[in-house]
Amino acid sequence: MTFGSIRSVRKTFPPQEAYREPVVALDDASFEFARGELVSFLGPSGCGKTTLLRVIAGLIPKTSGTVSIDGREVNEPLGNYGFVFQAPSLMHWRSVLDNVLFPMEILRKNDAAARKRAVEFLDLVGLSSFLSARPHQLSGGMQQRVALCRALIHQPALLLMDEPFGALDEFTRLEMNDLLLRIRKETGATVLFVTHSISEAIYLSDKVLVFSRRPARVAKEILVDLPYPRAQQLRFHEDFTALERVASEALGVIPAASASGAQ
Ligand SMILES: Nc1ncnc2c1ncn2[C@@H]1O[C@H](COP(=O)(O)OP(=O)(O)OP(=O)(O)O)[C@@H](O)[C@H]1O
Ligand SMILES: [Mg+2]
Repeated sequence: MTFGSIRSVRKTFPPQEAYREPVVALDDASFEFARGELVSFLGPSGCGKTTLLRVIAGLIPKTSGTVSIDGREVNEPLGNYGFVFQAPSLMHWRSVLDNVLFPMEILRKNDAAARKRAVEFLDLVGLSSFLSARPHQLSGGMQQRVALCRALIHQPALLLMDEPFGALDEFTRLEMNDLLLRIRKETGATVLFVTHSISEAIYLSDKVLVFSRRPARVAKEILVDLPYPRAQQLRFHEDFTALERVASEALGVIPAASASGAQ
């Protein structure tokens, strides 16, 4: 069943200076996703992926088109979503546990049940012995795990992730990929995930949307018909590399098979 529906969404930013042209960031972006699906966005830098996430969350107004989540049209900030950015952006003066609980404070629901859930989430991401640590005492990957817990603490139906693992080393990134899949399974969250990594997109997703250059439109929708749970050796399977090829062609990283004469 459709959970999110994005229909002909267009977003134009007004010119920064009078003599410049407006920036058309999104042009007729349309796609749908089901509850519990993990959908990745791949596309050239500056094509409009972050803008699209912000429009879906209702953080910025769209110029035209419709966005609906869980049967309701989004025209103001969504109540029930979590956002994870490229940088963990934790509050350095707060402990790990209090960073995770911050959204509950805002929602005035920082009760014993919330605290229990925060401890459980931090345990799930392997940080149970760092509850009272300060962010600067953690590595980048550990900080991003805290940010992930913070985004999930109010049990959002929709998790928006904007290149969350882009700044991590390859090994930590692979670990985070597995962690995200585990958390998704346990929470049932629907996830929209922006990445520049073709392999990461395929490894994680039910569906990969490849966007065109700005203004962003969906150039290709790739269904990732690989079973869950996924394990790292899947990356070397021919079905996986075949999907990497499809995405690479759609992005223009390699010429299309028919044009190059290759298989
Ligand atoms: N607040 C804003 N005001 C004006 N222009 C903006 C604003 N936010 C984004 N843009 C423009 O919209 C276009 C799309 O930007 P966006 O950040 O969505 O790209 P992106 O696909 O996320 O890129 P990257 O992969 O590098 O993060 C860019 O040309 C950018 O300059
Ligand atoms: Mg971006």
